[in-house]
Formats: sequence, C-alpha cells, structure tokens
Amino acid sequence: MSIRPSVPSQSSWRERALAALPAGSNGEFGLPPELVPVIERGAGPLVWDTEGREFADFTMAWGAALPGHARPEIIVAAMKAATDGANFAAVNRRAVQLAERLQQLCPCAERVRFVASGTEATMLCLRVAHAATGRRKVLRFEGAYHGQHPVGVAGMIHGQPRNLPHCDPSGAGAPWVENDVLVAPYNHLEQTAAIITAHASELAAVIVEPFHRCLSPAPGFLQGLREVTRKHGVVLVFDEVVTGFRFAPGGAQQYYGVTPDLAAYGKALGGGFPIGAYAGRADIMDAVNEHRLPGPGYAWSASTTGGNPVSCAAALATLDLLCQPGTHDHLHALGRRFRQRLTDTLAELHIPAQILGDGPIAQLAFTSKPVTDHDSYLATDRVLGRAVMLGLIRNGIFLNPMGTKLYLSLAHTEAQLDRFCDALRVSLKP
Ligand SMILES: Cc1ncc(COP(=O)(O)O)c(C=O)c1O
Repeated sequence: MSIRPSVPSQSSWRERALAALPAGSNGEFGLPPELVPVIERGAGPLVWDTEGREFADFTMAWGAALPGHARPEIIVAAMKAATDGANFAAVNRRAVQLAERLQQLCPCAERVRFVASGTEATMLCLRVAHAATGRRKVLRFEGAYHGQHPVGVAGMIHGQPRNLPHCDPSGAGAPWVENDVLVAPYNHLEQTAAIITAHASELAAVIVEPFHRCLSPAPGFLQGLREVTRKHGVVLVFDEVVTGFRFAPGGAQQYYGVTPDLAAYGKALGGGFPIGAYAGRADIMDAVNEHRLPGPGYAWSASTTGGNPVSCAAALATLDLLCQPGTHDHLHALGRRFRQRLTDTLAELHIPAQILGDGPIAQLAFTSKPVTDHDSYLATDRVLGRAVMLGLIRNGIFLNPMGTKLYLSLAHTEAQLDRFCDALRVSLKP
C-alpha cells in the first residue's frame, strides 16, 4: 500500500512535475509554477512541451546540445554503441579513442579520465590538485559556478558583508567549505595575484572559468594567472565545461593561448549525452594512478558510468562534426550576428543594455555601463532581466530565466534569431 497521496493520472504533466519534483524542476529554472514547461521532445533548434507548444530553444540543454537536438549522426553512433553493451565500467575501445582525440585537441591533455558530468570533472581536478600538492585550500572567482559540489557553489551567490578573499558559502549546503576556499575578483589580476602570493604555501589550486559566466578575460588576465600560479607551484585549473570544444576545437586554452595544468570538460563534449572528463599534465594526473595507493599523493577516482561506450560514441561523433573545417568560424559568425541583432533590437526599443558573450553564446545585461567584472554585472537591472526572460518564455522562446547565457547551436539559423528578436519586442512592449 502506498503511503504517498497519488496525483490523479488525468492531471497535467505540469501538475505531476510539481507534485513529484521540488519546484517542479530538476534545479534548472525557478520558474513560476504556471510557466513550468515539461519537455516532450526536441529537434534541431526547437523543443516541444507536453502541451504541444513549440519553442525556439536558446538554452540547448545549457549548452550541451551544441550540434542541435537529436542530431542523426550522434544518435546513430550512440545507438550502435548501446547495442554492443551500454556500460562495462571499464576501459573500452570507444573510451580509448575519445581519450586520444582529447590528447590531440586539448593543449593540456597529456592524460585523460572520464566521469559523468561537469560537476565531477571540476571536483576531480581539485582533488587531484590537493593530492599532487599536499595543500588544502583552493582559490576561485566570485560569481563562478563549477558544478554542484560545495566548492563549485561556494562564492557563487553574492553575500554580504563582502570581504575578499573570504568565501560566502551561501547555497553550498556545507557552510564549513568556507574554511578552505578563497575568493578573488575575476579580471582583477593585481588583487588576485596578491591573494595567491599571500596564501601560496596552503594553496593547491586556482580554478577559473576562462570565460567567466559570460565575461571575456581582460587582456593579460589569464596569462598573469598562469605566471603567478607557476611561480608558486599552484595547480592552474581551467573549468572548460562551457568553453570546451565550443570556442575552438581545443577550447579556451586554444582560443586564448594559455595552457593550464588541468582542465575539466562536460556539456558540448557529449553532444547532448551525459559525459564529463578531466585532463592535464601527466605528472599531476598520476595522482589518480591506483599503483600509488595508499600513498599520501593519491586521489581516489572511479566512476561507474564515466567513459561508458554510449556517451563516448556520442562524443566521438560530436567531435567529428565540430572538427569539420569551418565549423567554429560558423559558430562565431552566428554568435556575432545574434549579438548584433540583440543590440539593434534593444537600441530600437530605447532600452539601455549591454550584450555580453563570445562564440555562440550571448547574454542580455540591462545597464548602460560596460560589464567587465562581477561588480559591474551585479549593478545591472536583474529585475528587468528576469521579467524579460519570463516574457520571452511566454512568447515561445525556451531559455534559462535566471537571465544567464543564451546558447546557440549548429542547428540555429536566421529564422530562430528573427523569432528571438520578435519575441523580445513583444516582451518589452509597454
Ligand atoms: C562552468 C561550469 N562548470 C561546471 C558545470 C557543471 O556541469 P554539470 O551540470 O554537467 O555537472 C557547469 C554547469 O552549468 C558550468 O557552467
């Protein structure tokens, strides 16, 4: 006998989602209940919900579906792999092939390990850095998100009083994490270098989103981080979960010309299928070599589903697509066109805004002043931003209403950009 009240089967999928999932979501949106869409299917740049409504998708699985939804080459490769056995929790041919592709593409990737998500990838980079250095603290940047583990979240939500490098652990669910996390201001090299230098003897790693949320690095910022971390023997970790394979085949390291010690990957690598990977210098990655057990420089790393052949097959097919000549030029050109169209549309409506972004990514920031760091981002009109995002959803645009990144895909065309700008005009009509 069930002890839970059952939801009548004639209820809508939205009602059923709200009854089964906290806030009716998987953590993604914080939408008002009447707007919670329950997705039925996707194709290319479009998704449909269970009520049959069509949306132009501008979140693309938070950037994971870079080739577009249900891209045939990827589906065929994954299905073929599944028929050979979906998971062995062991090294398999497709995992080896994928590791070799990452070695070829990603400048830092002398060795590779697979996990199942971006969260695990960044978490393992940090644990490997702890094991390799024997140091307990990490430095991250305010406002950054590195996944769902405590260090990934601590310092993301802006807290008061703000006293850098003290970490505000709001949202981490593990307030004690503040003892081991230092927070620095992104794009402020001098302040960051001073924090690193002052804490060098206890600092295992500096983790950075090279393209921080939707902000580009100031000239010399990443190069400066590289120099100061090298000088103090601190492991430099690039969180390439967003930038990997999207800005260039070799990700942000190739795009910005700075090679970290370790890097974390996820999202676009799987072409929509779940995957994560971390990679880096062979001597540092050797911290996960089981032959070191139980030495102090050893970090346990084992994943039941990481490196499964289905996700690896999807990733190999995805990389085949992304590495075709001209693909990244096309993605960058599409992103530039989108950002220009957004700029023009908001100017025509006399709404003060900055359009942030690079590559096939954009973000609306409602302010007349340039946005270059966390402080200038916090000074934007985020109440208006949220209202616009909800308006866009009501007008057939699927996106993340937290007002964060808009993701384009290989499947987007001028038709979706038109649709977005039209919906923006309607949403902003007085
Ligand atoms: C920069 C960055 N790192 C890590 C993650 C976590 O990845 P996942 O959601 O696959 O765990 C995200 C997710 O949005 C991200 O944007």
